[in-house]
Amino acid sequence: MPIVTLTNVSKTYPSRTRDESEIVAVDDVTLSIEKGDVFGIIGYSGAGKSTLVRLINALEPATSGTITVDGVDITALKESELRKVRGGIGMIFQQFNLFASRSVKANIAYPLKLAGWSKPDIEARVAELLSFVGLADKAKAYPEQLSGGQKQRVGIARALATGPAILLADEATSALDPQTTHEVLDLLKRVNQEQGVTIVVITHEMDVIQTIATKVAVMEKGRVIEQGDVFDVFSAPQNPASQRFVGTVVKGLPSPSERAVLRDRHQGRLVTFSFRDGDSSQAQVFLDLAGAGLDFELVYGGINDIRGRAFGHLTLAIRGEDSVIDRTLADVGRRVEVTELAEEEAR
Ligand SMILES: Nc1ncnc2c1ncn2[C@@H]1O[C@H](COP(=O)(O)OP(=O)(O)O)[C@@H](O)[C@H]1O
Ligand SMILES: [Mg+2]
Repeated sequence: MPIVTLTNVSKTYPSRTRDESEIVAVDDVTLSIEKGDVFGIIGYSGAGKSTLVRLINALEPATSGTITVDGVDITALKESELRKVRGGIGMIFQQFNLFASRSVKANIAYPLKLAGWSKPDIEARVAELLSFVGLADKAKAYPEQLSGGQKQRVGIARALATGPAILLADEATSALDPQTTHEVLDLLKRVNQEQGVTIVVITHEMDVIQTIATKVAVMEKGRVIEQGDVFDVFSAPQNPASQRFVGTVVKGLPSPSERAVLRDRHQGRLVTFSFRDGDSSQAQVFLDLAGAGLDFELVYGGINDIRGRAFGHLTLAIRGEDSVIDRTLADVGRRVEVTELAEEEAR
């Protein structure tokens, strides 16, 4: 069941100068987030990700299109009704946005106070949250005494305090080092799995999506240019921009400079074979090449794992008669994806 849907949603801002046309921050976006998803939204800076988040949590109205949250069309609601919708959505930020002058405990208690909880209930809930995020010993500390990862864990505890069904994370790990990023992502995974919270992860970092998301939408210039299961988008991205994103984190795909080095070092035609689980085995490719009497050498490769499903890329230098290579590649290409590195590109 979808918990958030966007149908033909656009958001434009008025131009800032007289000779500038209006800014289309979100352009005709349609997507559907299922209950329990960890839904990733990826794109370069300026792609419209944060604007999309502000539309989902009803901080700003869409210019056109329909947004539903938990079955309710929020584009038709009055301000007083929107407040209730916002209460069901937690949010965490790149800069954590903690109150510097309040203790960890008071930061987490803040939304509960606003919601009118009693003192004993707040005490119990804060203790529960602190233990969930692993900061039971930091209740009395102040934000400045915490590391970045600890601050974000406080941010997560605060966002979850009133028990929202949805958590929006806008670049929530972008200010953290890789090790700390993975600790925070592990915590978000637990939030999703143990508390059943639907999480929307907005990021420009592909490895964040690879680590945590189940679905992904790729944004460029306000539009969603590709969306689907993370495995599908990572193993066989269709759009050139998604291919660039995926290329930055996927193992086994040589970068342009690596391809130039391969070309210099190896004789023959350079061919990349891309495997996905369910494809015929890699061994069969080797058997086919050998069976055709071709000489080949493995020059580059890597295997990726996304939640237990594997895909990979192997690049071989193949030597032999061109017509035999062509025929064999056509054969093999019926079972796995075959990409030949163009001569001119490598030069
Ligand atoms: N309040 C605003 N007023 C005018 N333009 C805005 C506003 N918010 C965002 N934009 C513009 O909308 C585009 C998308 O911005 P944003 O959603 O912040 O992208 P992202 O989060 O992907 O970096 C950018 O061109 C940005 O300058
Ligand atoms: Mg942003």
